[in-house]
Formats: sequence, C-alpha cells, structure tokens
Amino acid sequence: MKLIIAKDYEDMSAKALEMMKGVVVHNPYAVLGLATGTTPLGLYRHMIEDYNSHGTSYAHIRTVNLDEYQGLPKNHNQSYAYFMRENLFRHLDIEASNTYIENGTAQDEQAECARYNKLLAEMPRDIQLLGLGSNGHIAFNEPNTPFGSETHVVDLTENTIKDNARLFADISEVPRKAFTMGIKQIMQAKQILILASGANKADAVYKTVCGKVTEEVPASVLQLHPNCILIADKEAASKL
Ligand code: GLP
Repeated sequence: MKLIIAKDYEDMSAKALEMMKGVVVHNPYAVLGLATGTTPLGLYRHMIEDYNSHGTSYAHIRTVNLDEYQGLPKNHNQSYAYFMRENLFRHLDIEASNTYIENGTAQDEQAECARYNKLLAEMPRDIQLLGLGSNGHIAFNEPNTPFGSETHVVDLTENTIKDNARLFADISEVPRKAFTMGIKQIMQAKQILILASGANKADAVYKTVCGKVTEEVPASVLQLHPNCILIADKEAASKL
C-alpha cells in the first residue's frame, strides 16, 4: 500500500482529484467505483470544479457505488442514490443511466444481491474509491466480514449507526440494515484509492496500514492489493 500524507482535508481532496482525473482522462470509458460519506465530498467538489473549468468529460464514464441503505427509496434525501446525484452526478455530463447502485427497496434481497454481483462482474472497475469507517469498515463491510464476501445485506453495528446518525435528524431514523458490495469485489478493482480525514480515523488508519491483516479490521485487507493508495490528512495519520 502506498501512503500519502496530506496537509489537511482540502489537500487530501486535491490529491485525490489528480488520481481520479488521471483515470478519466486516460480512459474516457472507464468504470469508477464510488463511495459516499463526508470524506469524498471534497473530492467530488473538486471534480465538479474541474469539469466546469477544464471540461473533463464523463459522457462515457460508468460508475458503480459501494452501498445503499436498506429500505430507503432512491429519492429519499438520506439515500446514497440521492447523495450521489446531488453531490456529484447532476453537476457533470454523466448519463444517469450509466450510474449504478443497489436498489434499497428491493423486496427480494437475495435477487438484488445477485443482480449487483452480476453487474460488478460485467463492469470491472478501473478505480475504486473508499472511505474508512472509524471501526475500520470499508463500504458497509463491518468487522469480521469474510474477505471472500460478495454483495450482501448487513446489520449495521451500533458504532456505525452512531457515526452515521449525525447526518439524520434523529438516531432512530438511521436504517439498521444496508446492501453492500463485498470485500472480494472491492479487491477486484484494478486500483484502489482510500481517503481518511480527521482524528477520529487515526486508529483505523493505523490498523489499516500497520496492523495485521485480519477480518477484524476489514480495511487491513488492502495491504494485499497490488495497487492501493491511501491518502490521509495529518490528523488521520497522527498515529502512524
Ligand atoms: C459509511 C459508508 C462508508 C464510509 C463511512 C465513513 O458507513 N458506508 O462507505 O466510508 O461511512 O463515512 P465518513 O466519510 O462520513 O466518515
């Protein structure tokens, strides 16, 4: 794993743009694996600014997202589909039909997981963007998820529900379950870019980079990926 320490959140986001833009410019037909959360917001802002000022086109780009809350329709303002549309897609020239995410309201969960697995197999990702949970989760793969996992439905841990509650009016509104891409599929991306910002990620960053590779810390699996870059700001890197 290659580690880049950024000065702050802004610097982390600017450095992430360079990598993401590199992929898009090199291959205008690339498949981008995208993530939600507050961490990638700065990168998305930079992508929009870059599109507006330099015209970097996403007209032929396809995207697949990591995860979606179970039970939230795509127009719900806390769904990850809504997040992606509002914070990125509607500001670029990307086709909405080229953006993929799990259907949070699918009645048949197993069929939905199978559909997503098939889609991921058909669309190898050129780059997979990741945030990092404070407990070391990636996407919604919580501690002790098997490294061989594919798309599945998870019961979110209390830790994650608490972390994510800040984005909801009340903790009782945070969904208890989610669809997530599996760890095996995250690892299949040609390149992985993981971002971490802030002191509350310092423990997870330390375990991701220096800890032993264990299912107890899902992100530690990234040590085994041949082309993974972690960009952490100073606070997130403070325990290294
Ligand atoms: C959620 C998402 C993860 C994300 C994590 C960290 O649990 N499912 O993909 O990495 O939150 O979020 P944040 O970037 O807001 O700290």
